[in-house]
Amino acid sequence: MLSKTIESALNKQIRIEAESSQVYLAMAVWAEVKGLEGISNFMYDQSDEEREHMLKLVKFVNERGGHARVSELNAPNVTFKSFKEMFEKLLDHEIVVSESINELVHISLQEKDYATHNFLQWYVAEQIEEEATARTILDKVNMIGDDKGGLYLFDRDIQQLTVNSAAQTPTA
Ligand code: FEO
Repeated sequence: MLSKTIESALNKQIRIEAESSQVYLAMAVWAEVKGLEGISNFMYDQSDEEREHMLKLVKFVNERGGHARVSELNAPNVTFKSFKEMFEKLLDHEIVVSESINELVHISLQEKDYATHNFLQWYVAEQIEEEATARTILDKVNMIGDDKGGLYLFDRDIQQLTVNSAAQTPTA
């Protein structure tokens, strides 16, 4: 059985994951209307992954005798000055999510809820991977700068990155 403190902290995270899905959906749409299909597909996949993160939490809360909350969401940013800015925002966003997961882990220990602590380890590992991917992408974007040819190649190659990260995603 979840304590009220843990239930409320997990529900907060459900909202964050749902908002993350919206953030990446907005990025996918922006890239799509700019004609960059590879980047757009990458973002659509990211958005789907965030929804999975949310659902995993929803199931966990309900299975442990809590009631998962489906909240109103903040509207995401829908336009960006550049692709660089968009990917910077992606990394910034993932850093915020990681901080939130760390806080949740901290609360689970304070509450001596070792089942929740164990459950959260998957998110800890996932955040390491997501931040690393975002940093790798940003390094490449910084290398490209304003070079149109570079952006064309990056748009093609990011699809490869999607395939790789999908292959590495744990099925748990
Ligand atoms: Fe579910 Fe990218 O944090």
